[in-house]
Amino acid sequence: APREASAYVRSLVRTVPDWPEPGVQFRDITPVFQNPRGLRTLVDVLVDRYFDAKLDAVVGLDARGFMIGPIVAYELNIGFVPVRKIGKLPWKTISESYDLEYGSATVEVHADACNAGDRVVLIDDLIATGGTMLAGMHLLERLGAKVIEAAALIDLPDLGGSARLRAAGLPVFSICEFA
Ligand code: PRP
Ligand code: ADE
Repeated sequence: APREASAYVRSLVRTVPDWPEPGVQFRDITPVFQNPRGLRTLVDVLVDRYFDAKLDAVVGLDARGFMIGPIVAYELNIGFVPVRKIGKLPWKTISESYDLEYGSATVEVHADACNAGDRVVLIDDLIATGGTMLAGMHLLERLGAKVIEAAALIDLPDLGGSARLRAAGLPVFSICEFA
């Protein structure tokens, strides 16, 4: 991301120590969204990055990926696909289970959420262990989509998620990092 945009977004992230449990430094994105210039900056970075990528859809990860993905999809004039936590989608689904920095989870996508050959980007607020993005990638690949990149506001490189995603063949883009 452009240096100034990256530094500005990073400056608005709030770090909450020991939440939701001891030892976790929670990176809270709500102040970025509350700030009009913060919101515009983060959206502009992502729209600029994918403007010429010939994407067919933006895929957002439950729940904080839903705050970012639809805005970017709207600006790119393409659709938005939600990957949801288990039990929320009403139609036929496929699912993937994975481990988190804290806890574990299963995510689902509708079986008809995209067409084989569609080019998609995955969007979430943050990459920690990479488990959520990896599960999203597996779901979309099972639907026959081509996952171009995983994009996040924040990467926590020390948790190894972005390296894990790249090792799995998925390019990673983040607006800023917290070590
Ligand atoms: C957080 C975050 C990412 C994920 C990152 O979501 O928003 O989706 O964890 O962790 P990972 O890289 O180790 O998978 P969380 O599961 O806390 O859910 P929420 O978005 O509903 O708050
Ligand atoms: N999701 C997983 N780890 C997180 C962290 N440290 N801050 C915010 N969201 C997270």
